[in-house]
Amino acid sequence: MINIVLFGKPGAGKGTQAEFLKGKYNLTHLSTGDIFRFNMKNDTALGQLAKSYIEQGDLVPDEVTIKMLEDEVAKNPDSKGFLFDGFPRTIAQAEALDVFLAGKDQSITATIALEADDEILVARLLERGKTSGRIDDQDEEKIRNRYQEYNEKTAPLMEYYTNQNKFYPVNGIGSIAEITERLSTVIESL
Ligand code: AP5
Ligand code: MG
Repeated sequence: MINIVLFGKPGAGKGTQAEFLKGKYNLTHLSTGDIFRFNMKNDTALGQLAKSYIEQGDLVPDEVTIKMLEDEVAKNPDSKGFLFDGFPRTIAQAEALDVFLAGKDQSITATIALEADDEILVARLLERGKTSGRIDDQDEEKIRNRYQEYNEKTAPLMEYYTNQNKFYPVNGIGSIAEITERLSTVIESL
């Protein structure tokens, strides 16, 4: 069983690459952003709670996000492994995930990071915002706030996973197929 964290700044290509990797390696793809958006669309209590944070480009509080993620893992007891996309995003989330997986005699196998410059990514998200309907993509100030949240709260995870010898950076610039190849090379080396 392999459990992969697909790591990267907003717009780095986590969701795009997960679509290819989940089939190739038979992994259950869990995107916390997608799960929040599903709940917002269906106006659930969780969606209502998350909405104000997401629309401002702020992280949703840890206790809400951790509980949601654990529930999603529990819904997939027969999974051959997970591809975590957009989780963990804080040290508290990473620690909770380690404890949770250890309780199932499992662990994170690797954290693979898609690396790219902020300016390229901001341009990508503004472009996507023209059609995505995502409020957090539509205004440069909100997009910049997502990078500030990343720098303050998520970037420290690089050191967290490096200290566990589980951090694998990959160049996130290139064609989608080229990047899938780079990620596959890492996964097959594990
Ligand atoms: P989330 O949905 O996770 O958004 P994000 O990480 O900010 O960024 P994206 O999903 O937009 O980017 P991505 O890396 O998946 O790239 P994508 O493949 O889409 O989170 C949204 C919000 O939910 C957060 O701000 C927070 O509020 C909340 N949240 C979620 N998880 C949370 C957590 N753990 N804790 C607390 N709060 C949480 O690609 C982006 C664009 O680039 C697309 O248009 C794509 O077509 C294009 N693209 C992809 N690859 C390439 C390429 N190689 N070349 C050119 N363009 C490309
Ligand atoms: Mg995504």
